[in-house]
Amino acid sequence: MQPFDQLALSTERLLLRPLRADDADALFRIHADPQVMRYWSTPPWSGVAVAEELIAKDLVALPAGQHLRLGLTERSGGALVGTCSLFAFNQSCRRAEIGYALARPQWGAGLMHEALRALVAFAFGELKLNRLEADIDPRNSASARSLARLGFAKEGFLRERWIVDGEVSDTALYGLLHSDWRAAATNETNAARA
Ligand SMILES: CC(C)(COP(=O)(O)OP(=O)(O)OC[C@H]1O[C@@H](n2cnc3c(N)ncnc32)[C@H](O)[C@@H]1OP(=O)(O)O)[C@@H](O)C(=O)NCCC(=O)NCCS
Repeated sequence: MQPFDQLALSTERLLLRPLRADDADALFRIHADPQVMRYWSTPPWSGVAVAEELIAKDLVALPAGQHLRLGLTERSGGALVGTCSLFAFNQSCRRAEIGYALARPQWGAGLMHEALRALVAFAFGELKLNRLEADIDPRNSASARSLARLGFAKEGFLRERWIVDGEVSDTALYGLLHSDWRAAATNETNAARA
């Protein structure tokens, strides 16, 4: 896998770039919020050290291409507002998992949709992946809407796959194929021409 530490993606309103040491406070605040973490795979973070550790891991993992996590900042300025990532790469099957979190004050403005469109285009384009997967809590309707808007199909239901802080929860498994993405792009182009 190629190194990701120099990668930057830009969208109309956002710059997506690797995390830096000075993102630790903003990253911590996002993941300390119980609403953001309601359906996450860990409890809300309890100290900024968790953010510092995650950033330190990325400083090793991104140059090695082990996973790709990008921080979201608004082009108009300001601190980090979220992250999106590709992880669990399987090179021979050309697939990976997608993950994302946005700071609560930024919800509902289409920012994550904008970021994920850029990330998915990169995954199917530059990285030549064939399939993306998302594992979400079936109760996480905001996340399900984000995936549906990108064209992900709900493919499976796995019972009691997670236990977080003693709470047992299921997985809804979503998938998006490169061919689904291409077909949607063609339909959009045709609709714009009509
Ligand atoms: C999942 C999550 C990222 C979605 O955030 P979001 O802001 O709702 O996502 P989007 O960027 O797609 O925004 C879409 C909403 O903004 C609205 N919107 C406003 N302007 C928009 C624009 N220009 N383009 C698209 N949508 C726009 C849409 O109508 C939509 O509202 P709706 O969901 O009521 O239909 C967010 O809820 C989150 O961080 N949750 C906690 C972490 C989490 O659960 N992550 C997933 C774990 S697997």
